[in-house]
Amino acid sequence: MRIRIASSYFEMSNAAAKLIAVQVRRKPDSVVGLATGSTPLGTYRELARMHRDEGLDFAEVRTFNLDEYYGLAPDHPQSYRYFMNENFLRHVNINPKNVHIPNGLAKDIEASCVEYEASIRDAGGIDVQLLGIGRDGHIGFNEPGSSLGSRTRLKTLAQETISDNARFFKSLDEVPRFAITMGVGTIFEARHIVLLASGVEKSDAVKLAIEGPVTTEITASALQLHPRVTVFLDEAAAEKLKRKDYYKYVESMRQVVGQGDV
Ligand code: PGA
Repeated sequence: MRIRIASSYFEMSNAAAKLIAVQVRRKPDSVVGLATGSTPLGTYRELARMHRDEGLDFAEVRTFNLDEYYGLAPDHPQSYRYFMNENFLRHVNINPKNVHIPNGLAKDIEASCVEYEASIRDAGGIDVQLLGIGRDGHIGFNEPGSSLGSRTRLKTLAQETISDNARFFKSLDEVPRFAITMGVGTIFEARHIVLLASGVEKSDAVKLAIEGPVTTEITASALQLHPRVTVFLDEAAAEKLKRKDYYKYVESMRQVVGQGDV
């Protein structure tokens, strides 16, 4: 696990965007796993800027989103499809037929989840998967207690997640109670996983995910077993890490051997 601590949210977002850009330039038809939430917004903004100013080309890129609220139509302003369109997709030259987001209105949920998994496989698997982390240590909507081998499925949201997400809705009652999410096992199959966390309110979850035991209580802790994970943090999210200085030292040494950005 590579831990990259940036001095600010802005620096963190730019570093994560650079990593995605390197991937897309190396392989123009990359399969990129996308996440919603406040955390990746800066990364999306920088990727859109790179598209505009530097010609970063998304024409062949395929995307798969982690999750979608169950029961929200794609044009609902709080749906994750709407979020992705507003905050990223409409700002780059991505082909809409290459965009995959779980169907929040699926009649046959199970079949739709199986189909989602199959389309990831048909695309050749995910090259790089972006993730945020919940205060309860979740990735996607894999709440505490989710199997670390879980696949795409309907998930009941934890109370903490419902109240954290209430800020986007008019009232707590409007927050959906269910979501369709890739499982931890699905996420784990991505060849490179990039987790972003910003702010002191994430610092406990970050510490447990990176330095705690691997446990279903903190589903992000499963990433400790993955061969290629890059964690981008700002100082506030990193502040409780026991080995924070060591991670910084490792990164400075990588610069010395020219492996800073890879
Ligand atoms: P946030 O959400 O980026 O809005 O903090 C992250 C998550 O809950 O996975």
